[in-house]
Amino acid sequence: MPRSAVSPLPLPPLVPGGDVPLQRQLYLALRAAILDGRLGAGTSLPSSRTLARQLSVSRNTVIAAFEHLAAEGFVDGHRGSGTRISARSPGPLAPERRGGAEKGARGVSRRARGLAGWPGPARGDGNNRPLAPGMPDPDAFPCRDWSRLLARRWRRPQRSLLIDSPGAGYAPLREAIALHFGRSRAVSCSPDQIIVVSGSQQGLDLVARVLLDPGDQAMVEDPGYGGWKGVLCAAGVVPAPVPVDGFGFDPVLAERLWPSARMACVTPSHQFPTGATMPLARRLSLIDWAHRHDAWIVEDDYDSDFRYGAPPLAALQGLDAGRRTIYCGTFSKSMFPALRLGWLVVPDDLLDAFLAVRRLLDRAPPTLTQAAMADFMAEGLYVSHLRRMQRLYGERRAALLASAGRHLAGLADTVAGDAGTHAIAWLPDGDDDRAIADAACRRGLAPAPLGAFRLRPGRPGLLLGYSHMPADRIDPAIRLLAGIIAGSPR
Ligand SMILES: Cc1ncc(COP(=O)(O)O)c(C=O)c1O
Repeated sequence: MPRSAVSPLPLPPLVPGGDVPLQRQLYLALRAAILDGRLGAGTSLPSSRTLARQLSVSRNTVIAAFEHLAAEGFVDGHRGSGTRISARSPGPLAPERRGGAEKGARGVSRRARGLAGWPGPARGDGNNRPLAPGMPDPDAFPCRDWSRLLARRWRRPQRSLLIDSPGAGYAPLREAIALHFGRSRAVSCSPDQIIVVSGSQQGLDLVARVLLDPGDQAMVEDPGYGGWKGVLCAAGVVPAPVPVDGFGFDPVLAERLWPSARMACVTPSHQFPTGATMPLARRLSLIDWAHRHDAWIVEDDYDSDFRYGAPPLAALQGLDAGRRTIYCGTFSKSMFPALRLGWLVVPDDLLDAFLAVRRLLDRAPPTLTQAAMADFMAEGLYVSHLRRMQRLYGERRAALLASAGRHLAGLADTVAGDAGTHAIAWLPDGDDDRAIADAACRRGLAPAPLGAFRLRPGRPGLLLGYSHMPADRIDPAIRLLAGIIAGSPR
């Protein structure tokens, strides 16, 4: 083992009086010198007295730094023979282990590479831009009520809220969800069947893990929600596209296309993204299909709280007495997306399997947040917020349709379902919706191209979000979009 004493050591000057204590500065400097090879294995360090003199620090500072390095195995200290760089110290690290590798150069799993291409939620300021779809208005959220409820919980926190994270969720929230959605959407369940999840995206992931095996086929609406297809692929499941029409998912067509499918993932109340509503006959036919095939229906009820001019539609789940439906709901649109709270309604014989898998994932969303949400519902604030947003978004929907009538006539057919937070501008066949959306993005708008939600080619279109836009921003945005569509190559 080489034994070369290093004196003085190649260390940067220490900075007294800074945020980082001197002993930590010295420890970090020596550790860095070992990791980049300036101090090789076997090198003797100066005595603590000599080094303290060299660095103008106290001897205790040096001893503390040496002890820290010894505890992590970088140096060995022997009484009488001084301190040496350990033979077990890692030596100079390859550049990539020091974080210097080129982006993307290192290996990730085949699964991660396959998933990298799926569209995720819009990022950063994209969500705030005019016409971005699916965004509730954060300025209209009753922050004062919410902060009061959170503060009350924090002022007198029950120990259990700080310690427990029940896998199925906070019991009073599960009760409030069962009560509210039983009343408003005819969801048929007891609170015991509810599992609170971190948004419906996680709920869908849980469903795929629990009910499907790699190689199974799961039917998805086309166009449909990209997050669905992503979680299916992550589970090794084959997403089986079923084209939707003006009435949403067609179970007869689906069965013909995919006779061995194990699951149908649907948005019956407000098809995403076309806005179609699945009529009763199709709902019953889908339930019948599930029973005949021992298959599952997943009802993703993502934004139907906002129904304009009529009460919300009853959920498909409430029609399925045979319990082959898993209902998935979210507070992302009715509250705010970063809340990350949603829920599953699971047939009771599947609960144990769901909870066992759930325990291995994130365990549960933060209990205090769930408690505040339960309070928000119990105090009637959720219902009054929904009513206010329904009025506000209804006005914005009308403003958007009126603007589209003025500016988009002849360029696109703009329709908005009775529910939800976006409209669709259907473009003529041959138009390139992605290129138009890109051009709109360069001009500060954020409509989403329908093509991004398709597995198979189909009529182009743009999703136009209106819920987060004050009415006076809608007309200028639609006028600008009309100019972009008119100027696009046809
Ligand atoms: C159809 C659909 N399902 C599920 C989700 C996921 O919602 P969450 O924020 O609860 O994960 C979205 C989000 O936009 C959606 O559009």
